[in-house]
Amino acid sequence: MTTRIDGKDVAASVIETVKAGAAALKSSSNVVPGIAVVIVGEDPASQVYVSSKGKKAKECGFHSVQHTLAETTSEADLLALVEALNIDPAIHGILVQLPLPGHIDDGRVIQAINPAKDVDGFHVINTGKLTTGDVDSAFVPCTPAGSMLLIERARGKDLSGLNAVVIGRSNIVGKPMASLLLMANATVTVGHSRTADLPALCRNADILVAAVGRPEMVKGDWVKPGATVIDVGINRIPAPERGEGKSRLVGDVAYEECAQVAGAITPVPGGVGPMTIAMLMANTLVSAYRHAGQTPPSF
Ligand code: GUN
Repeated sequence: MTTRIDGKDVAASVIETVKAGAAALKSSSNVVPGIAVVIVGEDPASQVYVSSKGKKAKECGFHSVQHTLAETTSEADLLALVEALNIDPAIHGILVQLPLPGHIDDGRVIQAINPAKDVDGFHVINTGKLTTGDVDSAFVPCTPAGSMLLIERARGKDLSGLNAVVIGRSNIVGKPMASLLLMANATVTVGHSRTADLPALCRNADILVAAVGRPEMVKGDWVKPGATVIDVGINRIPAPERGEGKSRLVGDVAYEECAQVAGAITPVPGGVGPMTIAMLMANTLVSAYRHAGQTPPSF
């Protein structure tokens, strides 16, 4: 029997822990976790993501501010805003929504964020801490951190003796995912577009994480029987069967055929997606605890 890993369920339990942690911090230290989300330009997908982050932050009892800047905002003005947020004591988490318009250097902006408020975990200080195993003082990027919680549900915390394959080598998902799996004692391989025989590599995986952004690329015969399959992809594809101009969301994994073979698998939507936002709230709570000199709850 294949288990369908319900990300909505796990995310809801993370959010309950965040809410309780926020209430406890308020009563012990009179500190309210604060998050600032910055969006530059009018990309519709980014607007949806940013507004759902703000809503979830409010639901958790956080102080939440959104800065919406025009597409034509200069890099210098954006850097000045980041600096103001870096020193704002009411803000514990700063998130600059990516991608930024072409005239702004993403890297320069991300590296300008105070690493102690970098709840995305994209600053080199945080990536360095993650790869050296210092996760207790790092921020771990939200999507891999959430994926890891789902893997723990399926396989436990210790992955000794298991082969894990991550498809995709991005800084946001693939590389931090590989670090987390390695820390949990898995034997980790990162596959990508230049890998010689990706299906053969995947067939060896007890844990398979797909983070490539290619609709339904992973097929049923790529999956080892009983494997845990984590689908990070969120791809919108045309769905003419639903009517003219309609579309639907699919992952990087061909769900139906892979579910026949896998031991446990995440759906899209409703798998990794809800975990990403839940872990952003968790990171912001952790930041508020650290700023207050208290030990944060663990997730
Ligand atoms: N754009 C798409 N995903 C993310 C994310 O996790 N963080 C930020 N800052 N931008 C994104």
